[in-house]
Amino acid sequence: MSKLTGKVAVVTGASKGIGAAIAKALAAEGAAVVVNYASSKAGADAVVAAITAADGRAVAVGGDVSKAADAKGIVNAAIETFGRLDILVNNSGVYEFSPIEEITEEHFHKQFNTNVLGVLLTTQAAVGHLGEGGSIINVSSVVSRITPPASAVYSGTKGAVDAITGVLARELGPRKIRVNSINPGVVVTEGTQSAGIIGSDLDAWALAQTPLGRLGQPDDIASIAVFLASDDSRWMTGEHVVASGGMR
Ligand SMILES: NC(=O)c1ccc[n+]([C@@H]2O[C@H](COP(=O)([O-])OP(=O)(O)OC[C@H]3O[C@@H](n4cnc5c(N)ncnc54)[C@H](OP(=O)(O)O)[C@@H]3O)[C@@H](O)[C@H]2O)c1
Repeated sequence: MSKLTGKVAVVTGASKGIGAAIAKALAAEGAAVVVNYASSKAGADAVVAAITAADGRAVAVGGDVSKAADAKGIVNAAIETFGRLDILVNNSGVYEFSPIEEITEEHFHKQFNTNVLGVLLTTQAAVGHLGEGGSIINVSSVVSRITPPASAVYSGTKGAVDAITGVLARELGPRKIRVNSINPGVVVTEGTQSAGIIGSDLDAWALAQTPLGRLGQPDDIASIAVFLASDDSRWMTGEHVVASGGMR
């Protein structure tokens, strides 16, 4: 039997990048998956098509995680379509870089709304449906420790995600719900490509600091999400799993 047979997962921001790889990997281990997207319906539909072509179960559900009603709608789709919820992957995220002199309210709210408020609202919507053995996985970043220059807001959001992960691990532990984060280094995704990170000075700097000598790929992160979703990690909660090829 596969590791996640009979389980149901919600993956936010699964229309592309790391979220899409996590959705496919959870489905390959037997989970039925809600593939959330904000604007890229075609991307989410393609992820669902890939899962169903491999005999998995998935549904695409639109919604902005920074809106409470949307967060509830994303979670309710899991209950309505698949009848239960076991795994929540809070992956949706946006990243922008700016020196301190150029930070604006818009730059702050855009990133904190999606990366932090979105985690809180989606977890709040999900928590009443998660029973004993439930697993929440927050996709944070290695930036919360590395603190690169010109990333005060983005790194601040991921520092908040790390703290929230620890708080909720304590808060939900008595209900036997585990909460962990994955903290990736630079990963080649649609997002890092369109943001101009891949091929930039930041990319070269990250590569030079990476003992394993390459950038991350979405599948490098997805296999860790499967581990944290499954019973293999049953004795882990409140952990921050750094996945960066050794960059620290
Ligand atoms: N790539 C990296 O190097 C890296 C490193 C460390 C951590 N991370 C973290 O990993 C996560 C995914 O990054 P990625 O590089 O895969 O990003 P990506 O390729 O840009 O994909 C981002 C995903 O998030 C969704 N999204 C954005 N805003 C949303 C909102 N308000 N509500 C719901 N969904 C929303 C997007 O949906 P639509 O496309 O439908 O709009 C998309 O599916 C983020 O949390 C990021 O901070 C990435």
